[in-house]
This record gives sequence, structure tokens and C-alpha cells, in this order.
Amino acid sequence: MKKLLLILVIASAFISCTQKAPVEEPVVPQPSKSQIVYENIMSRRSIRAYKQQPVPKAQLDTIVQCAINAPSAMNAQSWQVRVIQSPELMAKIHAVNPDFYYGAPSLIVIAKEKNNGISPADCGFLTQNILLMAEAMDLGTVVLGNMGGIPNNPKAADIMATLDLPDTHEVIFAVAIGYKNETPGARPRDTGKIKFIN
Ligand SMILES: Cc1cc2nc3c(=O)[nH]c(=O)nc-3n(C[C@H](O)[C@H](O)[C@H](O)COP(=O)(O)O)c2cc1C
Repeated sequence: MKKLLLILVIASAFISCTQKAPVEEPVVPQPSKSQIVYENIMSRRSIRAYKQQPVPKAQLDTIVQCAINAPSAMNAQSWQVRVIQSPELMAKIHAVNPDFYYGAPSLIVIAKEKNNGISPADCGFLTQNILLMAEAMDLGTVVLGNMGGIPNNPKAADIMATLDLPDTHEVIFAVAIGYKNETPGARPRDTGKIKFIN
């Protein structure tokens, strides 16, 4: 009996020695919110070379939800936003002007309210949200000032009709968006334009 007990004690000691201690997850320090925002703003650059891979609709959805959460004067949300994903429509745009959007697979078109002096500012805030959310997703963007002349090009009348903008609105700019195929550095900034008034 004593012998059996001794065997049991030795066996259980052996088993407990061979059992692996639970692996503790290493504590990885997380960047602060301000670091994340700072790095996102500072790493965003206008991208003028894109991969052909389309951007998933779910990502574009998130981006435009962020866009319309921008501030706007009196919360008038004076913008109109159109997301162009269709390869057929992109091909039509390419046929009218192949160069201005740098081969991006998608365009986000932003239209301002014609008779609203503050609408360009509203559209600017909305657009910056697009640029920053896209950067956070590692997607490239570039603002396209007059959308390559598409809005005023008679050859693009059917493209503009497809955008279905109300008569009250006109395109202010478009944003090319897609996976980056270049990593340009920062263009110089003029810090002389900042003054602290003490
Ligand atoms: C209103 C606006 C219009 C722009 N239009 C164009 C454009 O038509 N084509 C282009 O390549 N870049 C365009 N840009 C991008 C600027 O050239 C770019 O933001 C600037 O040179 C600073 O570079 P960064 O965006 O890499 O910091 C535009 C930017 C803004 C804000």
C-alpha cells in the first residue's frame, strides 16, 4: 500500500513538472491617440501612381461615412458625394481624359452647393476626412482640382448625367483613391505662415 502511494506521489510530481506553464501574452505598448493622429496626418501624401487592384466597397463605405461626419456650417452638409467604382464608368472617364486621375481604380466626386459661399469650406473639411481615413487604411489619394475638366467637357455629358447631381450643385473636386504604387516624401511647408500672437 505504502509502495503504491509512493508511486502515485512520484507520478503526480512528474506530471506536474512536465505540464507547460501558461504562456503569458507580452504587454505591447500601444501608441497614444495623439501619436496615431499625428502620424496619420504626417504620413499622408498625394499619390500619383496606383495599383489596379480595386478598393473593396466596404472600405469605401467606411471612408464616405467618415467624410460626411466632417463639420459643416450650421450642419447644412452642403455637399454631394458620388463614389465611382464601376470599371465601365472609369473606362468612359479614361476615354475622355486618361491622365488626370493617375490610373486610380476609383474616384470620389465632391460637389458644392452653387449659391452657398461657405460650401467650398464644407467640401474641404469633408475631403480631408476622406484623405485621412484612406491613409489610415493605407490607401493612397490625391485631390483633383477640376476633375480633369470632365464637368465642363461636352464629351463627358453622359458621364456627368450618370453622376446624377442636382441642378443646385457643381463639382468642386474629385479624389482619386486606390492602393499606392509609390511612396513620395513630404513637399516643403512654409512655417513662416504661422505666427503665435502672445
Ligand atoms: C484643392 C486642391 C486641388 C488639387 N488638385 C490637384 C490636381 O489636379 N492634380 C494633382 O496631381 N494634385 C492636386 N492637388 C494635390 C496638391 O498638389 C498637393 O496636395 C500638394 O502639392 C501638397 O502635397 P501633399 O498632398 O503630398 O502633401 C490638389 C490639392 C488640393 C487641396
